[in-house]
Amino acid sequence: MLIKLPTASACKESDVTPESFYISRRALLGSSIAGLAMSALPRWASAADPSPYAGVEPGSAPAWFNAKLPDTKWQAVTVKGEAITPFKDATHYNNFYEFGTGKGDPAKNAGTLKTEQWSVVIDGEVGKPGRYALEDFMKPYQLEERIYRLRCVEAWSMVIPWIGFPISELLKQVEPTSKARYIRFETLQDPKSMPGQRSGFALIDWPYVEGLRLDEAMNPLAILAVGMYGRELANQNGAPLRLVVPWKYGFKSVKSIVRISLVSEQPKTTWQSIASSEYGFYANVNPTVDHPRWTQAQERRLPSGLFSPNIKQTEMFNGYGEEVASLYSNLDLRKNY
Ligand code: MTE
Repeated sequence: MLIKLPTASACKESDVTPESFYISRRALLGSSIAGLAMSALPRWASAADPSPYAGVEPGSAPAWFNAKLPDTKWQAVTVKGEAITPFKDATHYNNFYEFGTGKGDPAKNAGTLKTEQWSVVIDGEVGKPGRYALEDFMKPYQLEERIYRLRCVEAWSMVIPWIGFPISELLKQVEPTSKARYIRFETLQDPKSMPGQRSGFALIDWPYVEGLRLDEAMNPLAILAVGMYGRELANQNGAPLRLVVPWKYGFKSVKSIVRISLVSEQPKTTWQSIASSEYGFYANVNPTVDHPRWTQAQERRLPSGLFSPNIKQTEMFNGYGEEVASLYSNLDLRKNY
């Protein structure tokens, strides 16, 4: 994220990707969170036709994921009239510094990530601490497809169909104590499989850490994702478990989570520790508060190119203000960026 952006020119916005590439427009038209009503199980949720999305590389999902997939609430939340980013872009233009700092590095290097024996530690201010094998951790949750905008602090964006479950459901399971005020997430630390963690030049004090206020985590839009594009998460996107908070800059969405702690103090997060004047704890998408080195008023919606930069005006809270603005009614968002 320590990057130099070209100034966003006044180029005409153009949709560079043919509509036919994606699922039908009808499938893209949907509800806001107010319309969390479930659509019927679509035809594509079958083993014979596992993904509705074009160009999706087949994965090798674990048995627990395949068993849950048919019960997924498809399109539980969608975006209106915006094309879904092609799978290829969503999986080949990534930030995952554990696998390198280049946008193509995670796709190249994340094959070394071993997700088979994954476990998640729940600790801190909870009634039910423990270490859970991922398949046991996932048992209580019904999967939902959430089609969300993802806006990176670097001013590029995508629209991604995630599969996951609301964090509020997890909080019901772990029983936070009265002292719990924040939730802290930690990525795997394993230099053997993560070349970025072996690098002597890394700015990051591993493991990568992120956090939310408890009321933010309770918001129905905040999810933990285990899948995307009708299949399991690709390693480079944070397999097997990642956070997705669509009204915040992408760096909040910590990948490959191994530890979830309920805590009483605001956790020290990775990017805040690196450069607190540039990256705050809240990191709400806000077109009126610029990054010190570039504007946040606009974004480049991927796929984009030199002659079709696909520039969009950035929306407050990434377009999710109706659902989340009330969380911040007492907060000066200029100071609490
Ligand atoms: N999580 C970890 N562990 N390491 C990272 O480098 N990068 C963050 C976030 N989660 C990052 C991470 C940033 S800056 C962004 S924009 C998103 O992941 C990118 O998610 P994507 O690659 O799936 O688009």
